[in-house]
Amino acid sequence: MLLDVVFLPALLTPGQLRGRAVAVFDVLRATTSISAALAAGVTEIQACPDLATAQSAAAEFAGPHLTCGEVNALKPDGFDLGNSPGAFNAAAHRGKKLFMSTTNGTRTILAAGDAQWMFTAALVNASAAAKALVSTRCDVTLLCSGTNGRFSLEDLLGAGAVIDSLMQLGDVRLESDSALLALKQFQATNRRTLQEVLSQTQGGKNIARANLSPDILFCAMLNSIDVVGIVKGSPPIVTRWEPSR
Ligand code: MLT
Repeated sequence: MLLDVVFLPALLTPGQLRGRAVAVFDVLRATTSISAALAAGVTEIQACPDLATAQSAAAEFAGPHLTCGEVNALKPDGFDLGNSPGAFNAAAHRGKKLFMSTTNGTRTILAAGDAQWMFTAALVNASAAAKALVSTRCDVTLLCSGTNGRFSLEDLLGAGAVIDSLMQLGDVRLESDSALLALKQFQATNRRTLQEVLSQTQGGKNIARANLSPDILFCAMLNSIDVVGIVKGSPPIVTRWEPSR
């Protein structure tokens, strides 16, 4: 497969994702939270462009549901949950639908709408995400969310972790220096220091400032979750990807 990495949704050119399998990254924290929510048994997650859309869509939905997301890393007023991946658990959340709005991650999902296949990926599910991408037999683009419109190191590391796993599964040809950088950066980073590195990023500092540092540890736990979100439809709905047997 050919493999590309795009640092920010704003860098996408029209048609760039057409016919490709895309993994969207927002390691701190949206795609980590999506992975944790699906692992806890959340049925599906609607990715919303803003808080008002999440609230109005939730109000129209008759089944069991929750709103979740963040503004400046904090739980928005009137929302049920913030964006902490560790908050999801089966006892409280199994069988519920989430309506999610975050500053970067849910908007990146919306920006990747013309991909042939779309998955949500993070450090926590890098290996599982690689398996999902390979199953599509398409060329792959790893799309990073960044932080507030700027490049983010944690998403680059997430992309590098997925490339590293993909290379163990088959033939991967890197199409760009951004892909090469992601792989080299991940390979050069000691796995035991991932939490420390994530803490030093702008996204990590935002989370620490909100007194949510345990979230950084959760997001740094490489391959701790064996669940991948697959995104379909408009509005985009994320469900648990099931490998075909
Ligand atoms: C986002 O999508 O903007 C992030 O996940 C930010 C955060 O969780 O604080």
